[in-house]
Amino acid sequence: MSPVEETALAPAAEWWQSAVIYQVYPRSFADGDGDGVGDLAGLTARLPYIASLGVDGIWMTPFQPSPQVDQGYDVSDYCGVDPLFGTMEQFDALLSDAHALGLRVLLDVVPNHCSSEHPLFQAALAAGPGSAERDMFHFVEGSVDMSDGGVPPNNWQSVFGGRAWSRANPGSPTDKDWYLHLFSPEQPDWNWRNPAVGEYFDGVLRFWFDKGVDGLRIDVAHALFKADGLPDSPSAGGVVDGLRSNPQVSDQEEVHEVYRRWRTLAEKYEPHRLLVGEVNLEPARAARYTRADEMQQAFAFAFVKLGWDPAAWAAVGNELEAARQLHGATPTWALENHDIVRSVTRFGGGEVGALRARAAMVALLGLPGPAYLYQGQELGLPEVDVPLESRVDPMWARGGVCRDGARVPLPWTAHDALSHGFSLAEAAPAVQASEPWLPQPEGWGTHAVELQQQDPESPLALVAKALELRRLLWKNEVFGPNDGGTWRIEDGSLLICERSTDFFVAVAMGTEPVQLPAGSVLLSAAPLAEDGWLQPNNAVWVLRG
Ligand code: NOJ
Repeated sequence: MSPVEETALAPAAEWWQSAVIYQVYPRSFADGDGDGVGDLAGLTARLPYIASLGVDGIWMTPFQPSPQVDQGYDVSDYCGVDPLFGTMEQFDALLSDAHALGLRVLLDVVPNHCSSEHPLFQAALAAGPGSAERDMFHFVEGSVDMSDGGVPPNNWQSVFGGRAWSRANPGSPTDKDWYLHLFSPEQPDWNWRNPAVGEYFDGVLRFWFDKGVDGLRIDVAHALFKADGLPDSPSAGGVVDGLRSNPQVSDQEEVHEVYRRWRTLAEKYEPHRLLVGEVNLEPARAARYTRADEMQQAFAFAFVKLGWDPAAWAAVGNELEAARQLHGATPTWALENHDIVRSVTRFGGGEVGALRARAAMVALLGLPGPAYLYQGQELGLPEVDVPLESRVDPMWARGGVCRDGARVPLPWTAHDALSHGFSLAEAAPAVQASEPWLPQPEGWGTHAVELQQQDPESPLALVAKALELRRLLWKNEVFGPNDGGTWRIEDGSLLICERSTDFFVAVAMGTEPVQLPAGSVLLSAAPLAEDGWLQPNNAVWVLRG
């Protein structure tokens, strides 16, 4: 049987095949207690807003106990709630409120590394070289001569910049171990070749699934297993080479066994739990993580990183489609997340960037497969140039790019009493509220939710309209789980993605108006000037016949 036939025989739609999930970055969503950091109480209070968009669920980035070196991606207790965000009772209430509103809840699991404050890492440090405790992580002896600061076990560079190794015990003349951290030194990598690590994480998954959490987003999913023997990497550049698979470091065959086991575990629950991977690899490699018995979804990272370039969109789209035909899972689309520059800015900034971001979002929601929206994307927020003295991103601190600009607290109200309504305490003058943890720039209030809710032409209104139509098209079987996505360019700059024989998405990516192929326009990102023509930076959904 050819892979295409295999796909055609796929079972009927599962909820996640058509789902649109709203990514919540809790520290920047809504602040319930007025300390300047968003939290579970704030999120719970604002859940009706999320439900009103018409999404199917939320993905929450980490709120578990953490020293917050990497804003929660340095977890010191996988089964708790950091007091900064609230309590486990508050999480339980959030989950139940979300379910009552028809929203599924996905959490982030960070299995590649933990915090250096995690009790098991602390135990490893204390136990010393050669111990079973150290075997839970990658402790390796480095150079014997420490006079020059020592030489680490291999040449790997951290994703955040600088070497990927730190001394276990810098003051000790006898402890010559170094430990591996693909990210900051405060984020030691687990040793997945030790079965005890896998057993530990099975427990973490069960803990949240037993509570009724609907799924997990898996952080750095392709990197859990490192190349056996930890060889030098020939690309002196670093550990994770953007999208390229780096077989000297990660993307090892053994990691797939983890996801097969997790899928089995996820399917022991009713409804089945969802696994979505941050698999930052080129399409052909990434799609291997969504084979029938592994994760259900993996973000299409090749797409997330594209600029406003029709040839690149078509090439990546067709690459993703080829991978889908081979492995059977549609791509999981996203234009933004908390790690990358907001699409308005990425696509040129200003009015043009705003138009393009609307068009890209309309295109994305019409493509076959699930999609994720990042909080604030529905408001058309641009990237913020956070003042140097306010930046807290550890990647920036280690010489990499700064990701704070996509993480600025949301503007809820136009009026700036303190934080544009980010702090719910603003409405309760008895509570002394603090400034938001990242400063909101001048003019932030022009993007406020309260303004956009009154404006039928706002990005917010557009998202809600697109999602409503999308649901209808699924219901009426215009959209189906086996739709493909064949991409081409017409007239030099009109990008077309044929979703099925009946439906296509078109984006005008050039500087001149372009004629659309025949069909009825169901949705457009900006008003249509003339029938049958598309102005630059507009996108449409078209039904044929
Ligand atoms: C990916 C997360 O999205 C990012 O924010 C984090 O810094 C790294 N993984 C490390 O956990």
